[in-house]
Amino acid sequence: MIGNIDNLLNLSNDIFHKKELKPVFAQISCIAQYLWDRGWAERNAGNFSINVTGYFNDKELDRLSAYPFFPLSRTYPDLANSLFLVSGTGTRMREMAKNATENVCFIYIGDSGSAYHIIVENPAGELAGPTSELPTHLSIQQQLLQKKASEKVVLHAHVTELIALTQLMPYTSEVAVNSLLWGMHPETLLFLPDGVGFIPFTLPGTDHIAMATLKGFERHKVVLWEKHGCMAVGNSISEAFDNIDILAKSAKIYFLCKSIGIEPEGLSNVQLKAIHDTLPGWFDKFMI
Ligand code: 13P
Ligand code: ZN
Repeated sequence: MIGNIDNLLNLSNDIFHKKELKPVFAQISCIAQYLWDRGWAERNAGNFSINVTGYFNDKELDRLSAYPFFPLSRTYPDLANSLFLVSGTGTRMREMAKNATENVCFIYIGDSGSAYHIIVENPAGELAGPTSELPTHLSIQQQLLQKKASEKVVLHAHVTELIALTQLMPYTSEVAVNSLLWGMHPETLLFLPDGVGFIPFTLPGTDHIAMATLKGFERHKVVLWEKHGCMAVGNSISEAFDNIDILAKSAKIYFLCKSIGIEPEGLSNVQLKAIHDTLPGWFDKFMI
């Protein structure tokens, strides 16, 4: 099996064109288009990972060991024998929207959790590797499994409005940025009652940013990366996008008010409490 390109071509075809994955690819294309349209994915900005292990049986997964093998910088024991659909490094969301299969790869984590196989649609062509933010994606994916969370998707985007917010010193803390975002629009509080995490600027693509981001995801579904963008989780790529979109709306309202010289009032504590009477325990947890 190993080294036989015809076999690999057939296997890739089976994987990439698995009937059950069709809606997943359709949703990837749709969200990639939104990211591009919003201006949140300039050049190759943004990436995602989706845990698709559940779409394949053990026999199908076993066959993936035939693909080229690469070491990981850290070991992810809980991800051993898991399969992820991951955006390719350097790929453009605007191209992803048109043709997702050509801009993603699958990565299959080996038995030890310390290396992965890359499965591309065309194994005879150039080998396109996974996103440079793989350490953060795998760390979050492992944390989701450990928490037995339902979310299977991690999405990263350069959300202009949120990046701009992290450029403002008064909002470079978790407490301050959440207070602002919740105050700008009631939906933010309703849909993201745990708020966002905030990670001070850290070099992208490193284990360091992955570790810092993990801390943020202990309590949140979205984590802001200062002066860079954000990471979000969701049950689908669409849900991960929604979690980001809600926050971007709040930030936009803030900047819109500021742009006409108004300091926005924000929802009062009384108003926030009224909204959160539907979410028991919230007010005591977050408001002093
Ligand atoms: P990749 O093209 O490697 O996914 O990088 C894009 C990015 O946004 C890095 O933070
Ligand atoms: Zn980025």
